[in-house]
Amino acid sequence: MPSVLLIPSTAAAFLHTPKTVALLQDAGYSVAVAAEKDSPFAEYIRVATNHEPVSINGRIRGYKAVLMAPCTPDAPLPEATCPIIAAPIVGCGDGVPSSKGKIITLPPPQEAVSYGLLGKGRVATPEQCVEAVITALTKQDLAGMDILLTAGPTIEDADPARFISNRSTGKMGTAIAKMAARRGAHVYLIHGPMQAAVPFSSNIEAIPVRSAQEMLEAVLATVPKSNVAILCAAVADFAPVQYSEEKIKKGKSQFFTLQMRRTPDILATVGALPNKPFLVGFAAESNDLAANATDKLVRKNCDMLCANDITAPGCGFATATNRLLVFQRNGSCIEIPLATKEHVANTLLTLISKLAIRN
Ligand code: PMT
Repeated sequence: MPSVLLIPSTAAAFLHTPKTVALLQDAGYSVAVAAEKDSPFAEYIRVATNHEPVSINGRIRGYKAVLMAPCTPDAPLPEATCPIIAAPIVGCGDGVPSSKGKIITLPPPQEAVSYGLLGKGRVATPEQCVEAVITALTKQDLAGMDILLTAGPTIEDADPARFISNRSTGKMGTAIAKMAARRGAHVYLIHGPMQAAVPFSSNIEAIPVRSAQEMLEAVLATVPKSNVAILCAAVADFAPVQYSEEKIKKGKSQFFTLQMRRTPDILATVGALPNKPFLVGFAAESNDLAANATDKLVRKNCDMLCANDITAPGCGFATATNRLLVFQRNGSCIEIPLATKEHVANTLLTLISKLAIRN
């Protein structure tokens, strides 16, 4: 099990220590926590993490990464040859200790994090710190790839109270964004209003939109910067013909008709561009999966089309898992078996990187 050394060098850092340790362990690392043997923090580390703290005097060995979370510029830093990930506290010196080794400095998030009685500062959360450790220890085989990725549903407003949308949560799209960013790709994540959170990574640029029209505009503005486009969003196929500024009255009838129009087809629009990027579409199918998927692959001029059967258990909308059938222009079809959306995303990205480079 790869081992990570956590150095909580500030009082604020000790508040984050138990959660950071738990998240690192969940991610498959063994964790050691540093504290001076006789300091008041040493006992805290024993109680909070059930581990004996380690001393960081001199050179340290055997760790895959060191996490200084959060830290100030005067924090003690051991000599280390492995990557050091440092999260500075903005408002407390605004920097990280200097080192001869490789230091990765985390950008602080926009929002202030409260430290209870210690006050407020801006610093990366335990989740953000752990994601940075994972990225630092992941092979950067997608470095140089600029991915345009759409995720989540679009929302087509009818009036101030009502809208048309679908069941997409954004889980599949954000899983692709997270795994691609970990492997070094730069991701433009164009997403509708989704339940899933935008994954934290300095490699992810989130571009929130609402409607299909807004998503189309964001996609067209981003296409020239991208060499791969993965359109995973569940774009609403129809939108109300007219938005009513006032809430539409129910009236006395038992029936109600809302006139709808087709939304722009974003995938087909990108497919028709003269210098289109390597284009990957998705298809949510409930019947005749292979026939419908190959029809979309050809009609929308994709290089690859990932079909999921939204009626199969554990597949499609809102699930933690998925199974994909990946159709290619040469007529082949590769199955990515049922697994977590993160796992499926990783396998898909490996497939895309092989084919996109060849193209
Ligand atoms: O978000 P989750 O809850 O995790 O669910 C994941 C998912 C089921 C949404 C995802 O895996 C998926 O299948 N996404 C595509 C859903 C979809 O809209 O499929 P479709 O067969 O209707 O569309 C085919 C393709 O055309 C898709 O790439 C879609 O983005 C695109 N499209 C569709 C309509 C439109 N107006 N513009 C488009 O670009």
